[in-house]
This record gives sequence, C-alpha cells and structure tokens, in this order.
Amino acid sequence: MEDAMACPVNHEFDPLGEAYVADPYPILSAVREEGPAFYAPAIDMWVITRFDDIQSALMDPKTFSAAVGQRPVFPLTGEARSIIKEGFHAYPVMSDCDPPRHTRIRRHNQKGFSARRISVLEPKVWAKATELVDSIEPGVVDLVSALTYPLPAYMIFTFIGFPDEDMDMLKSWCGNRIAFSWGKPTPAEQREIANNMVNYWKYCEEFVAKRAADPVDDFTSDLIRIHQDDPESLSISDITNVAYGLSFAGHETTTSFTGNAVRRLLANRRQWDDLCADRSVIPQAVEEVLRYDSSIPAWRRITTSKVTVGGVEIPADAKILLLLGAANRDPGHFEDPETFDIHRDDARKHLAFGQGIHYCIGAALARMEARIALDLLAQRAPGMRMVEDQDFDFPANVSFRGPRKLLVHWPG
Ligand code: HEM
Repeated sequence: MEDAMACPVNHEFDPLGEAYVADPYPILSAVREEGPAFYAPAIDMWVITRFDDIQSALMDPKTFSAAVGQRPVFPLTGEARSIIKEGFHAYPVMSDCDPPRHTRIRRHNQKGFSARRISVLEPKVWAKATELVDSIEPGVVDLVSALTYPLPAYMIFTFIGFPDEDMDMLKSWCGNRIAFSWGKPTPAEQREIANNMVNYWKYCEEFVAKRAADPVDDFTSDLIRIHQDDPESLSISDITNVAYGLSFAGHETTTSFTGNAVRRLLANRRQWDDLCADRSVIPQAVEEVLRYDSSIPAWRRITTSKVTVGGVEIPADAKILLLLGAANRDPGHFEDPETFDIHRDDARKHLAFGQGIHYCIGAALARMEARIALDLLAQRAPGMRMVEDQDFDFPANVSFRGPRKLLVHWPG
C-alpha cells in the first residue's frame, strides 16, 4: 500500500479570481500537472485534478457524498437566510441527495425522461429555435439573448409543463441564481435572489397542485401518475422539489453550453466551415465542446470519511471540488487534449455529465438542444463571424461557465 501524504496547500487557486474567470484552462492544466489533490484556502475546499481520481470519486457516493451540491459556497447574510427559511421549503431530491432517497426519486424521474417524452419535445424545440433564428436581423447580434438563453428555457419549461404565458416571469426569477450557491453575491443581490427563489418555489407548489388535480400530457403529470399509483413512493412534495430543481438544472447549464459551443466553433473557423459543409458532424462537435469547454467545469462533493486520493490524504467532512474541466483535458485520457477538434473520435469519453448514480439526467435534452441550435445556425448563417475583442462577461463562481454575451456579425 502506498504511504499517504498530507494534503498540499495551494494558496493561489481561486476559481473566483480574475485570471480563472477569464480562462480557467491554463490553471486547470497546471494544477493537474502539479499533483492529484490539494487544499485551496480561497474556497475552503480540497481539489481533485485528474481524470482517474475524479471518476473514482464520482463512482463512490458512499465516501463522496453529494449533500453539498447546492449549498452556498460562502456564508449568506442573516437577511437572505431568513427569507429562505420563511418561504423556500425545498429539500434534496437529486443532485444534492444521497441514497437511499436519491435512488428512489431518481428511479421515478428516469421514467419521466422517457424516449417518448423527449421525442414529443423535439419538434417543439425545432419550431422554437426556427422562430428565434428567423427573427434575427442582419448586423451585430448578441446570440445569448437572441437564442442560447431563450431556447433552453423554453425547452425545459415546456418539458416540465409550465405554460407558455408564464415563461417571461419564470425567466425573470432565474437571474443570478448561480451566484447564490456557487459565487459570492453582495448582500443586496442575495436579498433579490432569495426573494426570487421563494417566488419560484411558490409557483412550483401551485403548479404541481394544479397538475395533481388535473394531469395532462407532460413530465410533471407523468410523475403525478406515478404518485397516484403509489403515493408512499413519490410524494407531492418530492414532485414539487423535482420541478423546482429541474427548471434550474436544465436551463442555465444548457444556455452556457450552447454559448461555449458557438464561441469555440467560430474561433476555430475551419471547423465551423467543416460543420456547415457537413451537418452530420454536429453530434460529434457537441461531444467535443462538452470535453473541451463544458458549462460545468467543476462540481462538488463532501467526504464522509478519511480518504486517500492519488497518495494525498483528505480528511472526513472535507468539501471537495472535482475539476471535471481538468479531467476532460487529461493527457492520460485524450491525445493532444488542449486542441479543439470536432473530428476527434473519442471525445464522448468526457466526464462533462458526471458518471455513476448522479449522471446528468438531462444529458439527452442538453445534447438535443445544442444539436438543433447548431444545425439551424449552420443552415441560416454559415457566414456569421464573432465580433473581435469582445468581453464575454463570464460569471464568477466555482462551478458554472458560459458567456453572458456573445456578439456575432449576422450576415444580411
Ligand atoms: C450541457 C448541459 C449540461 C451539463 C454540462 C450538465 C452537467 C451535469 C453534471 C456534471 C451532473 C452530475 C453532477 C454529479 O455527479 O453530482 C449533472 C446532474 C444533473 N443534471 Fe445536468 N447538465 C446539463 C444539462 C442538464 C439538463 C438539460 C437537465 C434537465 C433537463 C439537467 C438536469 C440534471 C439533474 C437533475 C442532475 C442531477 C442528477 C442526479 O443527481 O441524479 N442537466 N448535470
């Protein structure tokens, strides 16, 4: 057995720091080269850097609990805590939940994510994407506000069953939600986000109660039918929590991912031109963007007991950051990993959707949305170009990455 060494400390590593926010990848590669794990005082977390160790942690939910998945990284103000305590009654159901509750709820949700439900959604996503793309005027356009923000919101809200007329209100409640649990919002921002979370939560409670009284043909009604068959196994509160959680998980992640995809493709012009010439490579290109620049370059766990990672000893109750973005460029797993190449045939081996019991339940939806968006852009605007020297305005947080603005010259 190898001797465990005490955990090295890295005082420089700060995912909220300017350099990391602008471009985390040189830092991710450097820390992966330096060692398998270290403690980062800036975020009070132990950080794991290499593909094999991250994969092992994902596959070991007993030692690496998911319970911290949604917990604020930095302490909230008393005001924000009391707003949440008063009006927001969510509890862990999937991403921040461990077995056995996770196993029970995930099993039911998996039925809701059926091939039929996804295939019913696909033509609606095409229609919405076509409407959005066809209303873009020639000139300089922000593709985030024109396409990559509204499309995933429409997709996930339609999937859950939220009515079209509520979309703008729902979207207004999502603003800055990432900062709350993964960033460092100001006290005023915390107040605003906490109030929005309460509004959203109440909306989900009322929505699920409505569906319970009158189920229709949507994902939430699928869960209601499961509840009606066996109320003990899936409660109405469980369903409310799922609706709340999915509307967040399925929205920002995919907006950011599609933004990253367009940015990387336009920055590698020959590959964009190849994709426009042969749209059958789009699914492969989607996998390469997931590998090279996913919207979740890092995810969290907490240890339930002492554990040794790559020879480094990590204590029990240690908050952990798994550097998925570093794993996806690990030279032990991908040849020439720092090169973006949509023709790479093993990109799909990435860990962008995690692995094991928490593997992203929305992976098929995310892939579908990105594929449709890229297909339409390639058809309608193969000549589009990225505006040079622009500020993409990446949000500062430990887990999520995507441009808040993406300016392109849209051809006439
Ligand atoms: C490109 C977009 C997306 C990325 C990169 C992404 C990434 C991830 C990752 C890394 C995890 C695993 C976390 C872990 O191991 O704890 C995860 C879990 C999850 N994702 Fe996604 N996701 C995306 C889109 C979506 C969409 C569209 C939905 C909803 C329709 C969704 C819903 C979820 C849920 C509910 C979980 C928790 C599953 C569980 O704990 O059993 N995600 N996602």
